[in-house]
Amino acid sequence: MSGAIGGTIIKLQNVSRIYDTGRIQVPALLDVNMRVTSGEFVAIVGPSGSGKSTMMNILGCLDRPSEGRYILDGQAVDELDDDGLARIRSRSIGFVFQSYNLLPRTSALENVAAPLMYQGVPRKERLQRAERALERLGLADRLHHEPSELSGGQQQRVGIARALVTEPALILADEPTGNLDSHSGAEVLELFHDLNALGRTIVLITHDVEVAAAADRAVHLRDGRLQDAVPA
Ligand SMILES: Nc1ncnc2c1ncn2[C@@H]1O[C@H](COP(=O)(O)OP(=O)(O)O)[C@@H](O)[C@H]1O
Ligand SMILES: [Mg+2]
Repeated sequence: MSGAIGGTIIKLQNVSRIYDTGRIQVPALLDVNMRVTSGEFVAIVGPSGSGKSTMMNILGCLDRPSEGRYILDGQAVDELDDDGLARIRSRSIGFVFQSYNLLPRTSALENVAAPLMYQGVPRKERLQRAERALERLGLADRLHHEPSELSGGQQQRVGIARALVTEPALILADEPTGNLDSHSGAEVLELFHDLNALGRTIVLITHDVEVAAAADRAVHLRDGRLQDAVPA
C-alpha cells in the first residue's frame, strides 16, 4: 500500500467532464475541486443524475476529465497514456461494485486471485494471497464456492477481498450495499469501517444519505457540482 497516512491521495483540480454526444454537450461534472487525505473514509453522495458514476469513472482512471487535473497518489493522471492509466488503476485502486462483478462459475479463490495476474504475480503466490484475503473477510470455509453458491452478502465480501488482495492505496466502492438487504448492507459498511481503522483510504459513492453516514465525511454532488468542496 502506498500513500502514507496524512498525505494527499486524491486531488481533483477544476475537473469538468462534458459528454459530447455529437448533437448536444452534457456537462456531467463542473469545476470540481476535491482533496482526499490518505487514511480517510469519504462518501460522495448525490441523487440520480448528479454525476456520481462520472466521478467514479474519473477517480477510477476509467475515464479522463474534459478539463482540469486529477492527481492520484502523486501521479498526474493526464500525463499517462492508456497503458499507464491501466497500470495505475491495477496498482493503486481496489474496486467494489454494486453488482459484485464476480466471474461466474469461478471459485471465490480464483475470483480474488485474478487481479494479481495483471501484476504478474506467480500462480502459487496468487492463490496464497487470495486465501489470506478471504480468511480475513471470514470466508475461509467458502474458498471453493462459486458466486451462485454464495449469498449476496458473501458475494460482496468476496468482492471486497478481491479489491484488497493487491494492497491498493485506495478502495473505490460504487453503491456497494445497493443490492444487499439491510443486515448484509450494515455488515459491509462495518467492514469498510474496520478496514479504514486499519489505515485504508475508502471512497464510497452512494445516493443513500444513510449509507453515506457510515463515512467520516460526506461531500455532496448536485447537477455535477460539489456542494461542500474542500479547496484543493
Ligand atoms: N455517456 C454519456 N453521454 C451523455 N450523457 C451522459 C453519459 N453518461 C452520463 N451522462 C449524463 O451525465 C449526467 C450525470 O450522469 P451520471 O454520472 O451517470 O450520474 P449518477 O451516477 O449520479 O446517476 C446525467 O445527466 C447523465 O444523463
Ligand atoms: Mg450512477
